[in-house]
Amino acid sequence: MRIAVCQNKGGSGKSAMVVNLAAALAEAGELVDVADVDPQGNASRRLAARPAADQMTISEAIKCDALGAARDAYVPCGWGGVYSERIRVLPARFELENRISEAGTVGAVKRLKRALAGCDDRRITLLDCPPSLGHLTQLAMVAADVVLIVAEPEFDGIEGAVRVLNFVRDHADDLNNPRLRVAGVVPSRVRSGLGVHDFQIAGLDECFPGLVWAPHIRERAVVKAAADSVAPLRSLRTAPAREVAEDFDKLAAQVRKLMEVAA
Ligand SMILES: Nc1ncnc2c1ncn2[C@@H]1O[C@H](COP(=O)(O)OP(=O)(O)O)[C@@H](O)[C@H]1O
Ligand SMILES: [Mg+2]
Repeated sequence: MRIAVCQNKGGSGKSAMVVNLAAALAEAGELVDVADVDPQGNASRRLAARPAADQMTISEAIKCDALGAARDAYVPCGWGGVYSERIRVLPARFELENRISEAGTVGAVKRLKRALAGCDDRRITLLDCPPSLGHLTQLAMVAADVVLIVAEPEFDGIEGAVRVLNFVRDHADDLNNPRLRVAGVVPSRVRSGLGVHDFQIAGLDECFPGLVWAPHIRERAVVKAAADSVAPLRSLRTAPAREVAEDFDKLAAQVRKLMEVAA
């Protein structure tokens, strides 16, 4: 199953969710691919996926416009242990920006789907999208089975989530993926006790009926620390790291349930 992680607002925790959800799924025994569809390459870096200078990345795999073109571009997660065994990354570099200018080429929006064809069967692929709803996110949406929205419980975060939801509803057909749907909205970077967060959380179900996922991902400084030290949350061995890792474990359980229903 391919899951595009989207939000039309930057800094909302998309890449954090992709990285830590991949880790939680791998800990639970799943084989996971992370397709980095953001030229910032944050997910690639945080997962220590370092392609050699001459190695193909997601950008070239898309450019090829060939079935299965991504096959030789995967790099194992560099964290070691089960993470390296079970997580592969289709890494991004800044050159991925170059694909955006191809948006006007007929059929270009299908190129990531073609590149992934036959490469990720029997695996879970998490597609880490940039904050826009432009060509790169559209490449991911053409390839994906479902969209998962990450939303900070603040006005801009909710607005960004609504734009993604409406975009999928209005354009799934245009993207040649009429069955694409938003599977859920995951509240992220949640600070309980912060007035605005408590207020927005209380109203989430009304905004996104039937779509709001539990658990909420708590805001914890260790998420930044893990990202900056290029390490899994569980390696930090502090109480906050355990807490937020448990949030991601619960999220992983939801994702596995989603896969069972889809199977
Ligand atoms: N739950 C969290 N708690 C604390 N910091 C977080 C959390 N989620 C994300 N961050 C941090 O916030 C910043 C933006 O998150 P990121 O995942 O890069 O967002 P996006 O991919 O949506 O732009 C990063 O520094 C990241 O480490
Ligand atoms: Mg990101």
